[in-house]
Amino acid sequence: MKKILLATPTMHTEEEQYIQKAFETNWIAPLGPNVDEFEDKVAAYVGVPSSAALSSGTAALHLSIVLAGVKENDIVFVPSLTFAASVNPVRYEKAVPVFIDSERDTWNMDATALRKAFEKYPHPKAVMAVHLYGTSANMDKICALCKEHDVPLIEDAAESLGTTYKGKMTGTFGDYGIYSFNGNKIITTSGGGILVARQEKDIEKARFLSKQARDPARHYQHSTIGYNYRMSNVVAGIGCGQMQHIEEHIQKKHEIYKAYKEAFSDIKEIEMNPLNKDGIDNNWLSCMTISPDSSVTPTQVMDALEAENIETRPIWKPMHLQPAFEEYDFIQVEDGMSVSEDIFNRGLCLPSDIKNTEEDMERIIKIVRKQFRQQ
Ligand SMILES: Cc1ncc(COP(=O)(O)O)c(C=O)c1O
Repeated sequence: MKKILLATPTMHTEEEQYIQKAFETNWIAPLGPNVDEFEDKVAAYVGVPSSAALSSGTAALHLSIVLAGVKENDIVFVPSLTFAASVNPVRYEKAVPVFIDSERDTWNMDATALRKAFEKYPHPKAVMAVHLYGTSANMDKICALCKEHDVPLIEDAAESLGTTYKGKMTGTFGDYGIYSFNGNKIITTSGGGILVARQEKDIEKARFLSKQARDPARHYQHSTIGYNYRMSNVVAGIGCGQMQHIEEHIQKKHEIYKAYKEAFSDIKEIEMNPLNKDGIDNNWLSCMTISPDSSVTPTQVMDALEAENIETRPIWKPMHLQPAFEEYDFIQVEDGMSVSEDIFNRGLCLPSDIKNTEEDMERIIKIVRKQFRQQ
């Protein structure tokens, strides 16, 4: 039985050509023409003047935290419903995350809960918004609150490269934005990330910090702590090739989401993940939730698919429920079960690999429908 995976790299021919050139010119080591070209390509695509290519999305988030001036014991507002990589860099700097609940409309940071967080903690050092599963957060409200309180905004757009909100690319609303190119993202470099920033000087500083913060002196002089976070020229070559196909990847992701939505439209117990009505999603991962009155559980659906060699994934487990972060505060709009926990309890991520064939999709859909006693 053919294995169907969640989301795997989709390579074309150009990636190999870029890598071959790196080998021919022996430009293997960090930096080089592929890195420059990749930075330019991504910057042009999202509509900013420049970007800094880094070793991972997590590294890009860490540098955003450093550039925002976050220090020990500073408070950073972060959505609870996200991957741990959003929060870990806050802790690298020994800062204090305060988790914010999700809204139902987009599954992202709830602006009402964010407002409540500002009332309780009037002076956070930064706010981080995340665009989960490729769906834009409601940036108008989040940006307005950050502006009102004069707090820098970091956008974790790891999953949402290519997603727009009111015609503008996610990742470019805040003071800092990051994208990830790990293996399952909309495009991949095998592993890598990019940082964009409102101010050009932040990109310069990120490049400096990512190369061990070596001062411009002949000898090895360091006035500040640095990191080894630069992207290699080989890896960037994969990214250059991938960028030529990003729109095609997004188009296929749209088709996957649409196929699931149509296939489950007659099953009242299933709801697909909500998309932002003010945006165009990249549909990175198609997800579904099961209504609370259903006797079917997400685990049952995941087990049934796994038994047929089909990979799924639970929804991210909220950060306020994680042993590593349970000591930190969590702000929700109303008492009772949080929205993020409810989505986690009732949801799952469906296979969203753009190489899946129509037959693959039919196989997945049939198994899911069977769980709800629909043929
Ligand atoms: C929401 C989110 N933030 C951050 C990251 C970190 O990116 P990377 O794996 O490139 O470090 C990821 C992906 O892994 C992610 O999904």
